[in-house]
Amino acid sequence: MKKILVTGGAGYIGSHTIVDLIQNNYQVISVDSYLNSSEDVFEGIAKITGVSVKNIPIDLAATESLNFLKEQVGKVDGVIHFAALKSVEESVLKPLSYYQNNLGSLLHILKYIEEMAIPHFIFSSSCTVYGEATELPVTEDTVFSPATSPYGRTKQISEYMIQDFYQNSNWDLKAISLRYFNPAGAHPSHLIGESPANPAQNLVPVITETAIGKRKSMTVYGTDYPTRDGSCIRDYVHVSDLARAHTLALHKLESTKNTRPVDFFNLGMGQGVTVLEAIQAFEKVNKLKLNYILGPRRLGDLPAVYADNSKAIALLGWKPIYNIEHIMKDAWEWEKLSTK
Ligand code: NAD
Ligand code: WQD
Repeated sequence: MKKILVTGGAGYIGSHTIVDLIQNNYQVISVDSYLNSSEDVFEGIAKITGVSVKNIPIDLAATESLNFLKEQVGKVDGVIHFAALKSVEESVLKPLSYYQNNLGSLLHILKYIEEMAIPHFIFSSSCTVYGEATELPVTEDTVFSPATSPYGRTKQISEYMIQDFYQNSNWDLKAISLRYFNPAGAHPSHLIGESPANPAQNLVPVITETAIGKRKSMTVYGTDYPTRDGSCIRDYVHVSDLARAHTLALHKLESTKNTRPVDFFNLGMGQGVTVLEAIQAFEKVNKLKLNYILGPRRLGDLPAVYADNSKAIALLGWKPIYNIEHIMKDAWEWEKLSTK
């Protein structure tokens, strides 16, 4: 059984990926400081998989983490690195915290990989690396425009750090960077989902929090964009489809076919959904009326972003199966269960 270190394993995407890894016969060890999560998620993982995952609660940005990793985790077959801070807005207010946490953690993980000669690495990147994308749909070859936030810049710099390290490494080490578009939804069992310690800002949790009454109403940010209904277009991808892609990326790294030291894959559905369409999907599938108002644009939002996902489909064998209605159904069921 191959052993995989998952950093940020208590978080939203990390926890769903752990489930998929276990269901595909990997042994998992997690490192998560609970900076934006809690240990409760491991109960949900155990209920779904029957496996109790060990988590080591260390801060990966701290210098001591390298020794902790070597001593407490030791040699593993691969690392999937989710641990990072992810709020665009907070990163503008606290840029140094973002550079310290996101780049410091990555630096220690790469040193650990180097010192322990760990063959396979998967990095959580983001569509934010493309900045104000110059073409749609966005392909992996779309050139990076300047990042629109310090958070976005940490992801761009992370990818450069990874390329510099892997292109000059003398060992047979390989990496894949997965660029997520808009992850959303919850595991179809509704035993795990998104439960950030920090307030939600993304559209889908804002919708479910409004529907359950945690928020009185929500605002559609902008209805005067040059899109089919005036609201912004994004590419929402179900978190379980996203999780599956990590297992497939590991398989790719393990196969002899992967010759490049670093490769990059867009993970989106390849289809744009407007904010108003997303709200309509929520209302339709859950038979609810959402209390929302049409408001002004949010600073920094782009009119439309969606992925060309053909590379992940062709080379990873990825077949996303959930649409926006599944996302809205699972997100709502999770909100109801986790709010009790
Ligand atoms: P999350 O906040 O739910 O999970 C991240 C986890 O990492 C949290 O449990 C947090 O406690 C942990 N963590 C953060 N810093 C740490 C540190 N220094 N040491 C140890 N643990 C630490 O976020 P998520 O949505 O699961 O995102 C996972 C990754 O995917 C992140 O790298 C994020 O930037 C990236 N990403 C997320 C999205 C999204 O919209 N959710 C989109 C694109 C990329
Ligand atoms: C989606 C759409 C909003 C809330 C962010 C990061 C990106 C990546 C994914 C990490 C936009 C609209 C939202 C609300 C609204 N994360 N909206 N009312 O901004 O596309 O991407 O998360 O890497 O880097 O920037 O996602 O969910 O915040 O917004 O109308 O209350 O929903 O304007 O059009 P975004 P989002």
